[in-house]
Amino acid sequence: MQKFMLKLIDGKQLAQKRREEIKRTVEQLKAKGIVPGLAVVLVGEDAASQIYVRNKEKACEEVGFYSEVYRLPESTSQEELLQLIKRLNHDEKIHGLLVQLPVPAHIDEKAVIHAIDARKDVDGFLPENLGSLLIGEPAFEPCTPKGCIDLIKQTGIEITGKKAVVVGRSNIVGKPVAMMLLRENATVTICHSKTKNLKEELLTADIVVAAVGKSNFITGDMIKDGAVVIDVGMNRLENGKLTGDVDQASLEGRDCWLTPVPGGVGPMTITMLMQNTLESATR
Ligand code: GUN
Repeated sequence: MQKFMLKLIDGKQLAQKRREEIKRTVEQLKAKGIVPGLAVVLVGEDAASQIYVRNKEKACEEVGFYSEVYRLPESTSQEELLQLIKRLNHDEKIHGLLVQLPVPAHIDEKAVIHAIDARKDVDGFLPENLGSLLIGEPAFEPCTPKGCIDLIKQTGIEITGKKAVVVGRSNIVGKPVAMMLLRENATVTICHSKTKNLKEELLTADIVVAAVGKSNFITGDMIKDGAVVIDVGMNRLENGKLTGDVDQASLEGRDCWLTPVPGGVGPMTITMLMQNTLESATR
């Protein structure tokens, strides 16, 4: 049997390329007196959130954005948080606004997200933006799905007419990425925890997007030759190792494309946040 090389799609490299493009556009905007601005609000001490927020702050610096980061104590009331969002909604220096999730238990996450002006919702979490995506109107696309589409296109494989299987139906990844693949003219199936014949569904897929949240859940025997596999999983094992939803080892020697974890989808997400903030500033 002929041995193939599994082709890895380098998300770190693509993210860097996109950031350089954004940086150049920001320089042109600055010459016209526009500086894209992002505000990030973090409530509480969640360790992972602190890292994400720091990385968003660093990304802003890198591409030349104006940024404000609010690190609020765990004890912050919902009313105080809503007041801050209201103020930032009206702040002309701020083109993108997000509250890092999860928020502490005493705060209603939905109320917080809904308080954000849809025109500044660079996470693409609001019903206005998800609805626009559904009916094909201009919208902020959620960052991780947007990164997935960019990564698929990097392979040079045409999406039109292909069979895409999305595993996972979250509002942040599964549902929006399915809509975006549909917009790219793929034939899309959404699978989830209640799907009865997952392996059979996956074996029909030219494009797989795995957003399950279970380490090494998808294995090589479920993937057909030539498939492009996008692994959105970010699963932290007990030994501290980060793994995806796809078992990379079981795909070695196969004629497939795969985004590695780490270094695939992960680096793209914050870069797409920068892209959305840039788009907001130029609207
Ligand atoms: N928490 C984990 N990922 C995200 C994200 O993309 N946006 C926000 N606001 N919170 C998160």
